[in-house]
Amino acid sequence: MVLMPEESKITPWEVKGDIDYERLVKDFGVRKIDDAVLKSLETHGKLHHMLSRGFYFAHRDLDILLKEHEQGKDFFLYTGRAPTGPMHIGHLTPFLCTKWFQDTFKANLYIQIPDEEKFLAKKGVALETADKWMTDNICDIIALGFDPDKTFIFQNREFAQNMYTAACRIAKKITFSTVKSVFGFTNETNIGHIFYPAMQMVPCFFEKKRCLIPAAIDQDPYWRVVRDVSESFGFPKPAQIHSQFLPPLTGTAGKMSTSEQQHAVFLNDAAADVKHKIMKYAFSGGRTTIEEHRAKGGNPDVDVSFQWLKILFENDDLELKRIEADYRSGKLLTGELKLILVEKMLAFLEQHQKAKNKAEKQIDKFKYKSKLARKMWQWKDFVQ
Ligand code: TYM
Repeated sequence: MVLMPEESKITPWEVKGDIDYERLVKDFGVRKIDDAVLKSLETHGKLHHMLSRGFYFAHRDLDILLKEHEQGKDFFLYTGRAPTGPMHIGHLTPFLCTKWFQDTFKANLYIQIPDEEKFLAKKGVALETADKWMTDNICDIIALGFDPDKTFIFQNREFAQNMYTAACRIAKKITFSTVKSVFGFTNETNIGHIFYPAMQMVPCFFEKKRCLIPAAIDQDPYWRVVRDVSESFGFPKPAQIHSQFLPPLTGTAGKMSTSEQQHAVFLNDAAADVKHKIMKYAFSGGRTTIEEHRAKGGNPDVDVSFQWLKILFENDDLELKRIEADYRSGKLLTGELKLILVEKMLAFLEQHQKAKNKAEKQIDKFKYKSKLARKMWQWKDFVQ
Protein backbone atom coordinates (compact mmCIF):
# COMPACT_ATOMS: atom_id res chain seq x y z
CA MET A 1 0.00 0.00 0.00
CA VAL A 2 1.33 3.45 -0.80
CA LEU A 3 0.12 6.58 0.92
CA MET A 4 0.58 9.62 -1.25
CA PRO A 5 0.63 13.23 -0.12
CA GLU A 6 -2.57 15.08 0.79
CA GLU A 7 -4.79 12.15 1.67
CA SER A 8 -4.17 10.32 -1.59
CA LYS A 9 -4.26 6.55 -1.46
CA ILE A 10 -3.64 3.80 -3.98
CA THR A 11 -4.36 0.07 -3.56
CA PRO A 12 -5.95 -2.42 -6.01
CA TRP A 13 -9.28 -1.63 -4.28
CA GLU A 14 -9.11 2.07 -3.69
CA VAL A 15 -7.62 5.05 -5.50
CA LYS A 16 -8.19 8.46 -3.97
CA GLY A 17 -6.98 12.00 -4.48
CA ASP A 18 -4.23 13.55 -6.58
CA ILE A 19 -1.92 10.90 -7.88
CA ASP A 20 1.74 11.74 -8.21
CA TYR A 21 2.86 9.35 -10.96
CA GLU A 22 6.49 10.43 -10.67
CA ARG A 23 6.47 9.45 -7.04
CA LEU A 24 4.69 6.17 -7.77
CA VAL A 25 7.52 5.20 -10.11
CA LYS A 26 9.91 5.54 -7.18
CA ASP A 27 7.68 4.04 -4.49
CA PHE A 28 6.58 1.04 -6.57
CA GLY A 29 10.06 0.51 -8.02
CA VAL A 30 8.86 0.55 -11.64
CA ARG A 31 10.63 2.22 -14.58
CA LYS A 32 9.37 5.00 -16.78
CA ILE A 33 8.75 4.05 -20.40
CA ASP A 34 11.50 5.88 -22.26
CA ASP A 35 12.13 6.58 -25.93
CA ALA A 36 14.32 3.50 -26.30
CA VAL A 37 11.45 1.20 -25.26
CA LEU A 38 8.98 3.05 -27.50
CA LYS A 39 11.37 2.85 -30.46
CA SER A 40 11.88 -0.82 -29.88
CA LEU A 41 8.09 -1.37 -29.78
CA GLU A 42 7.66 0.75 -32.88
CA THR A 43 9.81 -1.61 -34.94
CA HIS A 44 6.91 -4.10 -34.64
CA GLY A 45 4.08 -1.79 -35.69
CA LYS A 46 2.60 1.70 -35.40
CA LEU A 47 2.24 2.48 -31.71
CA HIS A 48 -1.19 2.69 -30.16
CA HIS A 49 -1.71 6.30 -29.12
CA MET A 50 -2.02 5.29 -25.45
CA LEU A 51 1.64 4.29 -25.79
CA SER A 52 2.89 7.16 -27.93
CA ARG A 53 1.05 9.82 -25.88
CA GLY A 54 2.39 8.58 -22.54
CA PHE A 55 -0.81 7.25 -20.95
CA TYR A 56 1.11 4.00 -20.53
CA PHE A 57 3.95 5.49 -18.57
CA ALA A 58 5.81 2.78 -16.67
CA HIS A 59 6.95 -0.80 -16.97
CA ARG A 60 8.94 -3.63 -15.51
CA ASP A 61 11.21 -5.68 -17.76
CA LEU A 62 9.45 -4.69 -20.98
CA ASP A 63 12.91 -3.92 -22.40
CA ILE A 64 14.14 -7.40 -21.43
CA LEU A 65 11.03 -9.00 -22.93
CA LEU A 66 11.59 -7.15 -26.22
CA LYS A 67 15.24 -8.18 -26.34
CA GLU A 68 14.27 -11.78 -25.71
CA HIS A 69 11.69 -11.49 -28.47
CA GLU A 70 14.39 -10.32 -30.87
CA GLN A 71 16.30 -13.48 -29.96
CA GLY A 72 13.30 -15.60 -30.90
CA LYS A 73 11.71 -16.11 -27.47
CA ASP A 74 8.04 -15.22 -27.49
CA PHE A 75 5.86 -14.19 -24.57
CA PHE A 76 2.22 -14.38 -23.53
CA LEU A 77 -0.24 -11.74 -22.35
CA TYR A 78 -2.39 -11.66 -19.24
CA THR A 79 -4.98 -9.17 -18.03
CA GLY A 80 -8.34 -9.20 -16.23
CA ARG A 81 -11.56 -7.64 -15.01
CA ALA A 82 -13.49 -8.16 -11.76
CA PRO A 83 -17.20 -7.74 -12.59
CA THR A 84 -19.10 -5.59 -10.09
CA GLY A 85 -21.23 -3.57 -12.46
CA PRO A 86 -21.19 -2.28 -16.01
CA MET A 87 -17.75 -1.52 -17.41
CA HIS A 88 -16.82 2.15 -17.72
CA ILE A 89 -14.62 3.71 -20.36
CA GLY A 90 -11.56 3.56 -18.04
CA HIS A 91 -11.81 -0.24 -18.03
CA LEU A 92 -11.41 -0.20 -21.80
CA THR A 93 -7.87 1.10 -21.64
CA PRO A 94 -6.00 -2.05 -20.50
CA PHE A 95 -7.99 -4.17 -22.93
CA LEU A 96 -7.26 -1.88 -25.87
CA CYS A 97 -3.57 -1.89 -25.01
CA THR A 98 -3.62 -5.68 -24.65
CA LYS A 99 -5.32 -5.97 -28.03
CA TRP A 100 -2.57 -3.86 -29.58
CA PHE A 101 0.02 -6.27 -28.17
CA GLN A 102 -1.92 -9.33 -29.35
CA ASP A 103 -2.40 -7.93 -32.85
CA THR A 104 1.21 -6.79 -33.07
CA PHE A 105 2.96 -9.83 -31.60
CA LYS A 106 0.34 -12.57 -32.26
CA ALA A 107 0.67 -13.57 -28.61
CA ASN A 108 -1.59 -15.85 -26.59
CA LEU A 109 -3.74 -13.98 -24.10
CA TYR A 110 -5.33 -15.05 -20.81
CA ILE A 111 -8.19 -12.93 -19.45
CA GLN A 112 -9.04 -13.56 -15.82
CA ILE A 113 -12.53 -12.79 -14.53
CA PRO A 114 -12.06 -12.94 -10.74
CA ASP A 115 -15.67 -13.32 -9.74
CA GLU A 116 -14.72 -13.59 -6.06
CA GLU A 117 -12.26 -10.67 -5.71
CA LYS A 118 -14.57 -7.74 -5.04
CA PHE A 119 -16.88 -9.90 -2.86
CA LEU A 120 -13.88 -10.67 -0.64
CA ALA A 121 -12.36 -7.20 -0.83
CA LYS A 122 -15.34 -4.91 -0.39
CA LYS A 123 -18.03 -4.62 2.24
CA GLY A 124 -21.52 -4.80 0.77
CA VAL A 125 -20.59 -6.57 -2.49
CA ALA A 126 -22.45 -9.90 -2.87
CA LEU A 127 -21.11 -12.88 -4.80
CA GLU A 128 -24.29 -12.65 -6.85
CA THR A 129 -23.22 -9.18 -8.08
CA ALA A 130 -20.38 -10.76 -10.03
CA ASP A 131 -22.72 -13.40 -11.45
CA LYS A 132 -25.15 -10.70 -12.53
CA TRP A 133 -22.53 -8.70 -14.47
CA MET A 134 -20.30 -11.51 -15.72
CA THR A 135 -21.84 -12.07 -19.15
CA ASP A 136 -22.29 -8.36 -19.79
CA ASN A 137 -18.63 -7.61 -18.98
CA ILE A 138 -17.30 -10.59 -20.95
CA CYS A 139 -19.31 -9.41 -23.97
CA ASP A 140 -17.77 -5.93 -23.64
CA ILE A 141 -14.33 -7.53 -23.70
CA ILE A 142 -15.05 -9.86 -26.63
CA ALA A 143 -16.52 -6.90 -28.57
CA LEU A 144 -13.05 -5.34 -28.71
CA GLY A 145 -12.04 -8.02 -31.23
CA PHE A 146 -9.56 -10.38 -29.56
CA ASP A 147 -8.41 -13.40 -31.56
CA PRO A 148 -10.55 -16.31 -30.28
CA ASP A 149 -7.92 -18.89 -31.21
CA LYS A 150 -5.33 -17.14 -29.07
CA THR A 151 -7.46 -15.94 -26.17
CA PHE A 152 -8.77 -17.82 -23.14
CA ILE A 153 -11.33 -16.15 -20.87
CA PHE A 154 -11.88 -17.83 -17.50
CA GLN A 155 -13.90 -17.14 -14.36
CA ASN A 156 -12.06 -17.92 -11.15
CA ARG A 157 -14.84 -19.78 -9.32
CA GLU A 158 -15.44 -21.99 -12.34
CA PHE A 159 -11.78 -22.53 -13.26
CA ALA A 160 -10.62 -22.85 -9.63
CA GLN A 161 -10.28 -26.64 -9.87
CA ASN A 162 -7.52 -26.06 -12.44
CA MET A 163 -5.88 -23.18 -10.53
CA TYR A 164 -6.02 -24.35 -6.94
CA THR A 165 -2.87 -26.49 -6.84
CA ALA A 166 -0.84 -23.65 -8.33
CA ALA A 167 -2.43 -21.11 -5.96
CA CYS A 168 -1.42 -23.28 -2.97
CA ARG A 169 2.17 -23.50 -4.20
CA ILE A 170 2.34 -19.71 -4.59
CA ALA A 171 0.53 -18.92 -1.33
CA LYS A 172 2.93 -21.06 0.70
CA LYS A 173 5.83 -18.81 -0.38
CA ILE A 174 4.16 -15.54 0.68
CA THR A 175 3.93 -14.47 4.31
CA PHE A 176 1.19 -12.47 5.98
CA SER A 177 3.79 -9.89 6.83
CA THR A 178 4.52 -9.34 3.10
CA VAL A 179 0.89 -8.94 2.06
CA LYS A 180 0.22 -6.72 5.06
CA SER A 181 2.80 -4.25 3.90
CA VAL A 182 2.15 -4.55 0.15
CA PHE A 183 -1.67 -4.60 0.15
CA GLY A 184 -2.34 -2.86 3.46
CA PHE A 185 -4.09 -5.90 4.97
CA THR A 186 -4.73 -5.75 8.72
CA ASN A 187 -5.77 -8.21 11.40
CA GLU A 188 -9.37 -7.35 10.52
CA THR A 189 -8.98 -8.42 6.86
CA ASN A 190 -10.94 -11.59 6.12
CA ILE A 191 -8.86 -14.66 5.28
CA GLY A 192 -10.46 -15.06 1.83
CA HIS A 193 -9.12 -11.69 0.86
CA ILE A 194 -5.70 -12.57 2.21
CA PHE A 195 -5.57 -15.70 0.03
CA TYR A 196 -7.03 -14.03 -3.08
CA PRO A 197 -3.74 -12.52 -4.37
CA ALA A 198 -2.45 -16.06 -5.00
CA MET A 199 -5.37 -16.57 -7.43
CA GLN A 200 -4.48 -13.42 -9.36
CA MET A 201 -0.85 -14.58 -9.54
CA VAL A 202 -1.55 -18.07 -10.96
CA PRO A 203 -2.00 -16.99 -14.62
CA CYS A 204 1.57 -15.62 -14.63
CA PHE A 205 2.53 -19.33 -14.74
CA PHE A 206 0.14 -20.51 -17.47
CA GLU A 207 3.04 -20.84 -19.95
CA LYS A 208 6.72 -21.32 -19.28
CA LYS A 209 7.53 -18.07 -21.05
CA ARG A 210 7.73 -14.47 -19.92
CA CYS A 211 4.30 -13.03 -19.23
CA LEU A 212 3.39 -9.43 -20.07
CA ILE A 213 0.61 -7.78 -18.08
CA PRO A 214 -1.04 -4.56 -19.29
CA ALA A 215 -3.06 -2.87 -16.50
CA ALA A 216 -3.40 0.39 -14.64
CA ILE A 217 -0.81 0.99 -11.91
CA ASP A 218 -3.31 0.05 -9.13
CA GLN A 219 -2.71 -3.65 -9.90
CA ASP A 220 1.01 -3.37 -9.29
CA PRO A 221 1.09 -4.84 -5.74
CA TYR A 222 0.17 -8.28 -7.13
CA TRP A 223 3.05 -8.21 -9.59
CA ARG A 224 5.58 -6.99 -7.07
CA VAL A 225 4.86 -10.01 -4.89
CA VAL A 226 4.66 -12.62 -7.66
CA ARG A 227 7.93 -11.42 -9.17
CA ASP A 228 9.65 -12.27 -5.89
CA VAL A 229 8.61 -15.91 -6.09
CA SER A 230 8.51 -16.73 -9.83
CA GLU A 231 12.17 -17.59 -10.28
CA SER A 232 12.03 -20.01 -7.36
CA PHE A 233 9.60 -22.03 -9.53
CA GLY A 234 11.94 -21.83 -12.53
CA PHE A 235 9.81 -19.18 -14.33
CA PRO A 236 10.90 -15.74 -15.58
CA LYS A 237 9.58 -12.79 -13.62
CA PRO A 238 6.40 -11.47 -15.32
CA ALA A 239 6.80 -8.12 -17.09
CA GLN A 240 4.30 -5.29 -16.76
CA ILE A 241 3.20 -2.23 -18.63
CA HIS A 242 1.39 0.26 -16.41
CA SER A 243 -1.06 2.98 -17.33
CA GLN A 244 -2.20 6.05 -15.50
CA PHE A 245 -5.91 6.29 -14.63
CA LEU A 246 -8.54 7.64 -16.95
CA PRO A 247 -9.85 10.55 -14.88
CA PRO A 248 -13.47 10.77 -13.72
CA LEU A 249 -15.86 13.44 -15.02
CA THR A 250 -15.10 15.52 -11.94
CA GLY A 251 -11.48 16.27 -12.76
CA THR A 252 -8.00 14.90 -13.24
CA ALA A 253 -7.53 13.78 -9.61
CA GLY A 254 -8.36 10.15 -8.72
CA LYS A 255 -9.67 7.55 -11.13
CA MET A 256 -12.90 6.78 -12.86
CA SER A 257 -14.49 4.12 -10.70
CA THR A 258 -17.66 1.99 -10.74
CA SER A 259 -18.44 2.96 -7.15
CA GLU A 260 -18.70 6.65 -8.11
CA GLN A 261 -21.49 6.12 -10.65
CA GLN A 262 -22.19 9.78 -11.28
CA HIS A 263 -18.53 10.38 -12.17
CA ALA A 264 -18.24 7.73 -14.87
CA VAL A 265 -19.47 7.01 -18.38
CA PHE A 266 -20.45 3.38 -18.78
CA LEU A 267 -20.24 1.35 -21.98
CA ASN A 268 -23.98 0.71 -21.85
CA ASP A 269 -25.08 4.28 -21.06
CA ALA A 270 -27.72 5.59 -23.47
CA ALA A 271 -26.53 8.22 -25.97
CA ALA A 272 -28.66 10.95 -24.33
CA ASP A 273 -27.13 10.18 -20.91
CA VAL A 274 -23.60 10.28 -22.26
CA LYS A 275 -24.24 13.68 -23.78
CA HIS A 276 -25.93 14.97 -20.64
CA LYS A 277 -23.09 13.76 -18.35
CA ILE A 278 -20.41 15.38 -20.46
CA MET A 279 -22.15 18.67 -21.18
CA LYS A 280 -23.21 19.09 -17.55
CA TYR A 281 -20.45 17.51 -15.47
CA ALA A 282 -17.16 17.14 -17.37
CA PHE A 283 -14.66 19.29 -15.49
CA SER A 284 -13.57 22.15 -17.70
CA GLY A 285 -10.23 23.87 -18.10
CA GLY A 286 -12.05 26.86 -19.54
CA ARG A 287 -12.38 30.37 -18.11
CA THR A 288 -15.34 31.78 -16.22
CA THR A 289 -16.59 33.99 -19.06
CA ILE A 290 -16.38 33.68 -22.84
CA GLU A 291 -14.49 37.00 -23.02
CA GLU A 292 -11.88 35.83 -20.54
CA HIS A 293 -11.57 32.47 -22.34
CA ARG A 294 -11.06 34.20 -25.70
CA ALA A 295 -8.46 36.50 -24.16
CA LYS A 296 -6.51 34.05 -21.98
CA GLY A 297 -7.34 30.62 -23.42
CA GLY A 298 -8.22 27.36 -21.66
CA ASN A 299 -6.11 24.69 -19.98
CA PRO A 300 -6.38 21.31 -21.75
CA ASP A 301 -4.13 19.66 -19.12
CA VAL A 302 -6.93 19.74 -16.53
CA ASP A 303 -9.85 19.60 -18.95
CA VAL A 304 -11.52 16.18 -18.72
CA SER A 305 -13.04 16.33 -22.22
CA PHE A 306 -9.63 17.02 -23.74
CA GLN A 307 -8.00 14.30 -21.64
CA TRP A 308 -10.58 11.71 -22.72
CA LEU A 309 -10.01 12.66 -26.36
CA LYS A 310 -6.26 12.36 -25.84
CA ILE A 311 -6.36 9.03 -24.00
CA LEU A 312 -9.14 7.29 -25.89
CA PHE A 313 -11.25 8.89 -28.53
CA GLU A 314 -9.14 11.00 -30.94
CA ASN A 315 -6.86 8.68 -32.89
CA ASP A 316 -5.50 11.35 -35.21
CA ASP A 317 -2.44 13.09 -33.71
CA LEU A 318 -2.71 16.13 -35.98
CA GLU A 319 -6.36 16.66 -35.16
CA LEU A 320 -5.60 16.34 -31.43
CA LYS A 321 -2.84 18.93 -31.75
CA ARG A 322 -5.20 21.29 -33.55
CA ILE A 323 -7.84 20.89 -30.81
CA GLU A 324 -5.22 21.47 -28.10
CA ALA A 325 -3.81 24.58 -29.77
CA ASP A 326 -7.28 26.04 -30.40
CA TYR A 327 -8.30 25.43 -26.79
CA ARG A 328 -5.11 26.92 -25.37
CA SER A 329 -5.46 30.00 -27.55
CA GLY A 330 -9.11 30.55 -26.64
CA LYS A 331 -10.38 29.97 -30.18
CA LEU A 332 -12.20 26.82 -29.07
CA LEU A 333 -14.73 27.20 -26.25
CA THR A 334 -15.46 24.56 -23.59
CA GLY A 335 -18.93 23.82 -24.97
CA GLU A 336 -17.46 23.29 -28.45
CA LEU A 337 -14.74 21.02 -27.08
CA LYS A 338 -17.36 18.98 -25.23
CA LEU A 339 -19.36 18.56 -28.42
CA ILE A 340 -16.29 17.22 -30.24
CA LEU A 341 -15.88 14.64 -27.47
CA VAL A 342 -19.58 13.73 -27.46
CA GLU A 343 -19.57 13.10 -31.20
CA LYS A 344 -16.44 10.90 -31.05
CA MET A 345 -17.65 8.97 -28.01
CA LEU A 346 -21.10 8.31 -29.37
CA ALA A 347 -19.63 7.00 -32.63
CA PHE A 348 -17.36 4.69 -30.63
CA LEU A 349 -20.13 3.51 -28.31
CA GLU A 350 -22.55 2.85 -31.18
CA GLN A 351 -20.02 0.68 -32.95
CA HIS A 352 -19.13 -1.01 -29.65
CA GLN A 353 -22.78 -1.84 -28.91
CA LYS A 354 -23.15 -3.43 -32.34
CA ALA A 355 -20.09 -5.61 -31.77
CA LYS A 356 -21.29 -6.41 -28.23
CA ASN A 357 -24.66 -7.63 -29.53
CA LYS A 358 -22.81 -10.27 -31.55
CA ALA A 359 -20.41 -11.17 -28.74
CA GLU A 360 -22.68 -13.40 -26.64
CA LYS A 361 -22.61 -16.08 -29.33
CA GLN A 362 -18.81 -16.19 -29.06
CA ILE A 363 -18.53 -16.65 -25.28
CA ASP A 364 -18.40 -20.46 -25.50
CA LYS A 365 -15.56 -20.28 -27.94
CA PHE A 366 -13.44 -18.00 -25.73
CA LYS A 367 -14.22 -19.98 -22.56
CA TYR A 368 -14.37 -23.59 -23.68
CA LYS A 369 -14.06 -24.37 -27.36
CA SER A 370 -11.13 -22.55 -28.93
CA LYS A 371 -7.85 -24.41 -29.30
CA LEU A 372 -6.29 -22.45 -26.42
CA ALA A 373 -9.37 -22.89 -24.19
CA ARG A 374 -9.41 -26.65 -24.74
CA LYS A 375 -5.74 -26.84 -23.88
CA MET A 376 -6.24 -24.77 -20.71
CA TRP A 377 -9.03 -27.00 -19.42
CA GLN A 378 -6.37 -29.74 -19.36
CA TRP A 379 -3.95 -27.49 -17.41
CA LYS A 380 -3.74 -28.35 -13.71
CA ASP A 381 -0.43 -27.10 -12.35
CA PHE A 382 2.78 -25.40 -13.42
CA VAL A 383 5.05 -28.00 -11.85
CA GLN A 384 5.59 -30.98 -14.12
P1 TYM B 1 -10.95 -4.02 -12.22
O1 TYM B 1 -12.11 -4.84 -12.66
O2 TYM B 1 -11.10 -3.13 -11.05
O3 TYM B 1 -10.42 -3.17 -13.43
C1 TYM B 1 -10.15 -3.79 -14.68
C2 TYM B 1 -8.92 -3.16 -15.30
O4 TYM B 1 -9.15 -1.77 -15.52
C3 TYM B 1 -8.14 -1.00 -14.91
N1 TYM B 1 -8.78 0.25 -14.49
C4 TYM B 1 -8.52 1.44 -15.04
N2 TYM B 1 -7.67 1.78 -16.02
C5 TYM B 1 -7.61 3.09 -16.36
N3 TYM B 1 -8.38 4.05 -15.79
C6 TYM B 1 -9.26 3.75 -14.80
N4 TYM B 1 -10.02 4.70 -14.26
C7 TYM B 1 -9.36 2.37 -14.39
N5 TYM B 1 -10.09 1.72 -13.46
C8 TYM B 1 -9.73 0.42 -13.55
C9 TYM B 1 -7.56 -1.85 -13.80
O5 TYM B 1 -6.23 -1.51 -13.50
C10 TYM B 1 -7.66 -3.24 -14.42
O6 TYM B 1 -6.55 -3.49 -15.25
N6 TYM B 1 -7.95 -7.27 -9.79
C11 TYM B 1 -8.40 -6.78 -11.08
C12 TYM B 1 -8.85 -7.88 -12.03
C13 TYM B 1 -7.70 -8.71 -12.55
C14 TYM B 1 -6.64 -8.20 -13.34
C15 TYM B 1 -5.79 -9.33 -13.59
C16 TYM B 1 -6.35 -6.93 -13.85
C17 TYM B 1 -7.50 -10.04 -12.35
N7 TYM B 1 -6.36 -10.41 -12.99
C18 TYM B 1 -4.66 -9.17 -14.37
C19 TYM B 1 -5.21 -6.79 -14.62
C20 TYM B 1 -4.36 -7.89 -14.86
C21 TYM B 1 -9.52 -5.77 -10.90
O7 TYM B 1 -10.21 -5.77 -9.92
O8 TYM B 1 -9.68 -4.97 -11.99
